[in-house]
Amino acid sequence: MEQTPYEYDVLVIGAGGAGLRAAIEVSAAGASCGVICKSLLGKAHTVMAEGGMAAAIGNVDERDDWKVHVTDTLRGGQYLSNPKMAEIHAREAPARALELEAWGALFDRTKDGRILQRNFGGHRYPRLAHVGDRTGLEMIRTLQDHGIHHGIDFHMEYTVFRLLLDDGRVAGALAYDRERGRFRVYRAKAVVLATGGIGRAFKITSNSWEYTGDGHTLAYDAGADLIDMEFVQFHPTGMVWPPSVRGILVTEGVRGEGGILLNSDGERFLFDEIPALYKDQTADSAEEGWRYVVGDRDARRPPELLTRDHVARCIVNQIKSGKGSPHGGVYLDIAWIKEKISNSEDHIRKKLPSMYHQFKELAGLDITKERMEVGPTTHYVMGGVRVDAESQMSTVPGLYAAGECAAGLHGANRLGGNSLSDLLVFGQRAGAYAAAFAKEHGDVRLDQASADAGIREALQPLERERGEGPYQIQYELQDLMQEKVGIVRVESELEQAVEEIDRLSERAKAVSAPGNREYNPGWHTALDLHNLLVVSEAVARAGLLRRESRGAQFRDDYPQKEEHFGKVNIRVARGADKEMVVEEIPVEPMSDELTRLVEEMG
Ligand code: FUM
Repeated sequence: MEQTPYEYDVLVIGAGGAGLRAAIEVSAAGASCGVICKSLLGKAHTVMAEGGMAAAIGNVDERDDWKVHVTDTLRGGQYLSNPKMAEIHAREAPARALELEAWGALFDRTKDGRILQRNFGGHRYPRLAHVGDRTGLEMIRTLQDHGIHHGIDFHMEYTVFRLLLDDGRVAGALAYDRERGRFRVYRAKAVVLATGGIGRAFKITSNSWEYTGDGHTLAYDAGADLIDMEFVQFHPTGMVWPPSVRGILVTEGVRGEGGILLNSDGERFLFDEIPALYKDQTADSAEEGWRYVVGDRDARRPPELLTRDHVARCIVNQIKSGKGSPHGGVYLDIAWIKEKISNSEDHIRKKLPSMYHQFKELAGLDITKERMEVGPTTHYVMGGVRVDAESQMSTVPGLYAAGECAAGLHGANRLGGNSLSDLLVFGQRAGAYAAAFAKEHGDVRLDQASADAGIREALQPLERERGEGPYQIQYELQDLMQEKVGIVRVESELEQAVEEIDRLSERAKAVSAPGNREYNPGWHTALDLHNLLVVSEAVARAGLLRRESRGAQFRDDYPQKEEHFGKVNIRVARGADKEMVVEEIPVEPMSDELTRLVEEMG
């Protein structure tokens, strides 16, 4: 099966914000770069970060700076973030936003022509640089336009299914062409994983079909550590109706622009759900009473902008207590702002053009006049490949990860808008360090036997004439994860999930996708199953081990935070017999300077 490999200094897997930014940096460093993506360019989940990119530029509130941003991020992540990553992110995000602007991103403007910033959950000041509700899309467009002139090779509609190693160091990857089913071997001195998330392991998700935990699993199979896999973010607002569009994201930007959440009795239920920490104890008027304070009295936010984990759980409670909307959600109302501003309909259409069209076209509803029905949707995974804070290198030499498939920045819960800045800050770093690694460490040897074995294994579902198809297993897994490893978890259900995933994994080993290698989605799904099962097991096992509620993990049987678990991350790795090993490791220590800062900021 020997074939001439494609050769690069650095191979980037994934063409969302992190992958593109990494590739630009690799080529700027004079290294050769190939980018492989599962889908077409421009289709990455980055476009689903609609409401903005968090960067403490201070254009709307000049009190904002990196220090406030880092403390917001650490608080949002419930102090499980890698503090060094949180600091690097907050310090470097403004430069990355301005760089993107210089490369042609057309951000909305303040009256005096600077980048406009909006409110978002958990951010103390208006911090999100945005382009209406299409920020991720504009980011991708800009990076593609910029990157295309840099001599980067793009391989679209290829799926990587195996990393190749040379004596423990990453040496390349195996991929197949989704149209024709032909295999390709890539040799690379360094590899950057930027494959995004795991949303398709759940039934209701904002993620499109590509997000099957590929990078997580490629890294895990290659011997890298994963951490924080128990923390899956359920975005509070996805569409719930009609059924065909269930889970599609309704940007937090709607709430950032003044949207409020109501139950079926018309109550703004989040007023009753403000955690004591945030309550404005000093409020002295009805107007103030519905706000909460983070830090100082001048930075009040409506309760709809509490962190996502909290808002999503409150919505679930409303639905469970019978106060949901007809199709199993709650109401999100932006039309009410007509009471506050004139020309509200134009304003909504201007600030939220995609939401306006999305609801008009998919649900036949005019959001400038009517309330939307929304409910939680699986949106993001905080867990991922454990990386070095500075370089983004994983525990496998030469293997880097950036963006959603890497972990560390967001801890137990990501603040909205911190993903787009994460992609740019750590995509840039991963690219720079991977290019340097490639230069310093010289050539790698391709292990032909291991490449052949990988290809033979990938062909097995096609060769089995009889056997179960892959889709049934995929559906059962998605139902299981939604039901037993979702927003509210308990030990017995997590245990059942682990056992059931084990059974599904056995069935997956025998699936059949007979027919041609060309245009065979059944075969692709059969190969995706391995990734979906690995990440699902990691989420369930890590969720079991963390016997507490913190951030995105809510354990009904352990509803409080436990001091002990505030000091540990959960590491997931492959054991000597290929079994999954799950254990606690200490959270990375905070520098003295950052500790002082956190104390000062309260
Ligand atoms: O709601 C949103 O626009 C999503 C943003 C994000 O995930 O960062």
